[in-house]
Amino acid sequence: MHLQQLPPSIVVIFGASGDLTKRKLIPALYNLFLDKQLPQQFTIIGVSRVGAVEAFRAQMLEAIGLYSRRGPADPTQWREFAKRIEYISGKFEDPGIYAKLAKRIADDEKEFGQPASHIYYLSIPPSVFSTVAEGLGAAGLSSTRDRDRIVIEKPFGRDLESAHELNSHLLRCFEENQIFRIDHYLGKETVQNLMAFRFANALYEPIWNRRYVDHVQITVSEDVGVEARGGYYETAGALRDMVQNHLLQLLCLVGMEPPVNFDADEVRNKKVDVLKAIRKYNESDISQSCVRGQYGPGVQNGEIVKGYREEMGVDPASNTETFAALKLYVDNWRWQGVPFYLRTGKRMARKLSQIVVVFRPIPHQMFPSNASDTFEPNRLIVNIQPEEAIVLKFEAKEPGSGMRLRTVSMDFNYSEAFRTQSREAYETLLQEVMEGDATLFMRSDQEDEAWKHVMPIVDVWSSIPASSFPNYPAGTWGPDSSDTLLARDGRSWYNPQPPVGSKG
Ligand code: BG6
Repeated sequence: MHLQQLPPSIVVIFGASGDLTKRKLIPALYNLFLDKQLPQQFTIIGVSRVGAVEAFRAQMLEAIGLYSRRGPADPTQWREFAKRIEYISGKFEDPGIYAKLAKRIADDEKEFGQPASHIYYLSIPPSVFSTVAEGLGAAGLSSTRDRDRIVIEKPFGRDLESAHELNSHLLRCFEENQIFRIDHYLGKETVQNLMAFRFANALYEPIWNRRYVDHVQITVSEDVGVEARGGYYETAGALRDMVQNHLLQLLCLVGMEPPVNFDADEVRNKKVDVLKAIRKYNESDISQSCVRGQYGPGVQNGEIVKGYREEMGVDPASNTETFAALKLYVDNWRWQGVPFYLRTGKRMARKLSQIVVVFRPIPHQMFPSNASDTFEPNRLIVNIQPEEAIVLKFEAKEPGSGMRLRTVSMDFNYSEAFRTQSREAYETLLQEVMEGDATLFMRSDQEDEAWKHVMPIVDVWSSIPASSFPNYPAGTWGPDSSDTLLARDGRSWYNPQPPVGSKG
C-alpha cells in the first residue's frame, strides 16, 4: 500500500532530547515526509523530562541540518513538517505524562477524524524500558493490538536472564507482535539486498552450500573509537555491542534456507533456524576459536589517537574487549564443516562492513604453475558499507601472448546501478513499523538464541582477564591472534587495500 494512503500515525518518541532522536529519528522522519512516505495525517510527539515544544522544534531543525543525508531543511517543507511536532515534558515514572499523552492522542484522532496507529519509540536507557511500557499499559495505551506498537532499541538485555526479564515486563502490556526490536543493520539497503541477491536469482542458490563454499568471512570494522560512550561500552564490549546482534544477523542472512514467502514470521523462522544450528562452545573451544582484543594508542587516518584505556569513562585497567573474532560452525546439511569467521572492532584500519564468500578451489589445475603468481579461488564480496557493492572475483586471461592468469572483478555498484542515494536504515525501519511489518525486526526467540551463543564467551572472557591488553594499535586490523585464528586453518582475512592517496 502507498504509505500516504495508510491510516494516520502518531509517533511518540520517549527520550526526545537524546542523541538518537537528533541524529537518526527526526532526520529519518523528515526524509520520509519529503519522499511522501509518511501517512497523510501524522503527528510526532516528543516526550522528555524537561523542555517545551518551540525549543524542541528548533533543536530538531538544527539536527536535520547536521545529520540528515540531504543536508539542511528547506524552509517551506520544514514549516509544514514542524506543525506536526508536539512535545510533552515530565518524568517517565509519573503516571501524569501517560494521561497527558492519552489526551493528546485522543485530540489528534478527533482532528484526523479516524483512529491512528500509535508507535511508542523507546529511545531511552534500558533501565527505564519497563517503567515506560508499564506506564503505557496502565494508561490503556497498549491495548489496541493492531494499532499500538512499541519499538525498543538495543541493548535488549545484557544476558539471557535480563533479556527474559525485560521481555516478561513488556509482555505484561504488549503482545509479541506489537513489539518491534530494532537491529538497525537489518534496515540497511545493502543488508536487505542480501535476500534479493540470494532468493531472487537462480544462479547462486545451487552453489550456496558446503559442496562449493570453502568458508565465509564477515567483517564489521569501525575506524572510530568509543567516542563519548566509554561508560556504556565498559558494560558492553564488542561481543554484546556488535556480535550478539549485527554480526549474527548478517550470518543468518548468509546462512538461512529459502523462505516460502516474505511473511515476517516465515523469514524470521528461517533466520532463527540458523542461530539454533550454530555449534555450542565449551571452554576449550572458546580459547581455540575466539579471539579478543583491545586497542592501544596508534595512528588513525594520519593522526595520533588514544588507546581505549585512556578514553573518557573507561577504567585505566579495563578488561573490556574492543575487538572480537570468532570461528563458528553452522551444524546443518547445508553448512556442515564450513567455517564462518566473524570479526568486529573499534579503531581498526578502516570502516568496513563486508561479507566474503570464498568458494572452494578448482578441483584440478590444468594451467602451468607459472601461469599465475596470484591464483585465487573465486570470491563473492558483499560490501555493505561504506561502499555499497557486490563484487565477484574470478580468474581471467591477461591480454597478450601465452596463458597468463590474473584475478579480475565483476562489479555491481548500488549508486551507479540505481543512480540514487541509498536511504538511511532508520527511514526503512520507521516506515516498516508504521506499516506494521515486523520482517526486519528481532523476535524474542532470535534474541534468546543469539544470547545463548554469546554468553559462554562473555563469561569466560570476563572471568579470565586478558593479560595482553591492549594488544592492537589503533588504526590496524586487530591483534595478531586474529590472523593466527585463520592461519591455523591455512586461510587469511581479506583486508581491503587502503584507498589510493590515503595515509592509512
Ligand atoms: C551500534 C553500536 O549498534 O552500531 C555502536 O552500539 C556502533 O558501537 C554502531 O558504532 C555501528 O553502526 P554503523 O551503522 O555505523 O555500522
